[in-house]
This record gives sequence, C-alpha cells and structure tokens, in this order.
Amino acid sequence: MINNKLAEKTYWIGKVDDRKVPFHRLILEKGTTYNSYLLNTEKPTIIDTVDIMYGREFVKNLEGIIDLNKIQYVVINHVEPDHAGALPILLNKAKNAIIVTTEKARELLNGMFKLNKKKYLIVKDGDTLDIGEKTLKFFKTPYLHTEETMITYCIEDKILYPCDIFSTHIANNELFNNLAKEDITEDFKVYYKLIMSPHRTYVRNMLNKIKKLDVNMIAPSHGYVLRTDAKKYIDLYDEMSTVDFNKIDKKALILFSSMTGNTGKIAKSLAEGLNSTHIKTEIFNIKSANIDDLKESALKSDAILIGSSTKYGDMIGNLEDIIKDLMTLDLSNKLGIAFGSFGWSGEAIEIINDYIKQSNMTLVDTSFIVKSTGANHLKLPLKINYFNEDTSPKSCVDAGKEIGELILKQSN
Ligand code: FEO
Repeated sequence: MINNKLAEKTYWIGKVDDRKVPFHRLILEKGTTYNSYLLNTEKPTIIDTVDIMYGREFVKNLEGIIDLNKIQYVVINHVEPDHAGALPILLNKAKNAIIVTTEKARELLNGMFKLNKKKYLIVKDGDTLDIGEKTLKFFKTPYLHTEETMITYCIEDKILYPCDIFSTHIANNELFNNLAKEDITEDFKVYYKLIMSPHRTYVRNMLNKIKKLDVNMIAPSHGYVLRTDAKKYIDLYDEMSTVDFNKIDKKALILFSSMTGNTGKIAKSLAEGLNSTHIKTEIFNIKSANIDDLKESALKSDAILIGSSTKYGDMIGNLEDIIKDLMTLDLSNKLGIAFGSFGWSGEAIEIINDYIKQSNMTLVDTSFIVKSTGANHLKLPLKINYFNEDTSPKSCVDAGKEIGELILKQSN
C-alpha cells in the first residue's frame, strides 16, 4: 500500500482480496476489497471491518497500529459477513469498544455472532456522535441492500462512508480512484445493477438524504475510495435510479373472486400500489367478467394477479375454470402473482399459486423475491388475514408498489 491516508487521522485498514471471489452466485473476476477505516481521534473509531475469513489477519494488523484497548467505537453500517465478519474477533481484544449501529442491526448481530453482552450505541436517522476532533452523522438507508443498513458521514472531513453503496468490485492496491490504472465507471455501473438496482426506490430515498451533505470523498466498503469526482458518482446513482415514466407502458391484470368483499379490497389496494409506479391496471371481478375480455387483457399484460377467498378449502365461484382457460394462452414473459383474504388457512391462494407455477408465466413468490432482490420483507403469495381496515390497505398498497418495481425491472 503506497498511501492509506484519507484525511488527517483517518486511515484505510482493510483487506485486498485478489482471488476470484464467489459472490451472490457470481464469481468476481476482478476480486474485491473489504474496506475498513480507522479514525484515530481522541476516541478512536473503526468504521466497518473486513470479511470473516480475514478477521484474524485484520486484528493482527490493527494491533500494529493502535492499542486495541483504546478503541472506543466500532461503527457497523451493514451486518453482512464481508463487513461485520471480523467484529467478534476484534471485540475479543478491543474490550472497551462500543458497537454503533441501528436497532435492526443489533438484532441481526446478536443472532449471528451472539454479541448480546457487548455494549451498543443504537443510532437513529440524523444522530451525531462526537469522537473527539471529528463528528459522525448517521443516516438509515434500509434495503441498500439489506434492511438494517445505514451510512456514516464525517462532518469535518466531508467524507461519506456508505458501506456497500457506491462500491466497485475490484481488487486494487492503489486505493484511490484517481490512481486507478483504468476507468472504473463501467465497474461502478455493473455493481449498481447487481446489488442496488433491485432497490431503486430506496436508492432514491438515500439520495434525498445525502443531497444536503457536502461530500468531498466517498469511502465505500468495496473497491476504490472515490477521492475525486464524488459528485459524478452520486449523479450516476441518480441517473441509474431514475425511471422515465413517459416511456413506461406496462400493464397488470388483476382478477379476483371474493366471498365477502375482502379479496376485492386487496385487489383495489394492489392496483393503487401498482398505479403509483405508473403501471396501468385492469381489475376484473369474475362474477361479472367476460372471459374474452379477460383473455384479451391477459395477453396485453406484463403481470397477472389472481386472487380468491377460501371456502371449503378451495377457490370460490368459477375461478378455477377461468384460470384453466387463461393457462391455454401463451403467457410467457409475464409475471404471475397469487393473493387473497383468508380466515385460518387460505388454501385457495396456495392452489392459485400452484396453477401459476405450472403455467408458462414466471411465478413471483417469496422465493423469487429473495433470489432477485436479496430482500425478504415482501411475502408472496399475498395472504391477508380477513382485511383489517386500519392496516391492510397500506400493506397491500406497499405490496402493489413492490410488484410494480419488479415489473419495471423486468423491462430493463
Ligand atoms: Fe458487501 Fe452486502 O456486503
């Protein structure tokens, strides 16, 4: 390492991993880095650690730089083991260190590493922490790319520590982007597409939070520290997360069969969520639907949402016949989603799900969502217990928005 100094008393203390690294079912051909930072102020602070497999080496190196008993804080922006993995071994020696993180991250760290007995400082959006000579400010950035994530900003140095956000997967020994031997813009974009793009709306929220900050340098947790052109990289995220809705012409068909009206309410709320992402919707209650109109709508749609209440362990009305009829069409390249209101078991919803699975549509269920976004907060098929007028409309609208984002992403 030629120079690992980012600012006065601020140093990169990470690990360069120049293997072909297995990652999210891909192989990182250019390797990666796990960037960790030491802010060696009056209250020495570490921001993120390194991959779990390099924990011992990380701690040994750090012992050569600082007396570990002096470390006051370890900021954990994100708990995945490539960043929080060395935390347990570090805390074994840094006995006085307090973990600074979000409430959700504490829950996850305790689950993964059994750190229940360690000291935590739980921060909320906008909280600040005086570490002596420098002040850190924290912003929650949920789902970038997991629920607990936050970013850290050093007010005096104007350095943003966003962990995975604004990263690149390139093993390098130059550290700073202005010393890179090649243009990293394409690697930066590929990283965004792989890791951040499924969470487009959360990227927009994050950009809104940081737009008031004066960011001189971005020190992410993979790849190059963006010492120059910070604005260019923030603008690239802005550009890549912006959808030109004038160019969007996507449609979803929602058909349902409802016993008491609850499944109809779900259909309406789903449509509201979909519409908010500029997806046009057509809703059919099968009681009064014309099968030819339904088929025509299905063929024009990018997604088909099918819902039913459950009676005697089955769908109600002639929904099953309609589904069989629809399945005779070429529905390839369309997304299929099951939903419904239920009292105790909701078999109808599962049976619809099975039909979609057997069709040539792409079934969008929890497994699909987890595999394509890495998030597990949206449970599909969407099963709503009765329909709570206070809480269900919002959860169904939110589900509609998430499904809308998936439809938009399918078109990219
Ligand atoms: Fe680089 Fe989400 O871990």
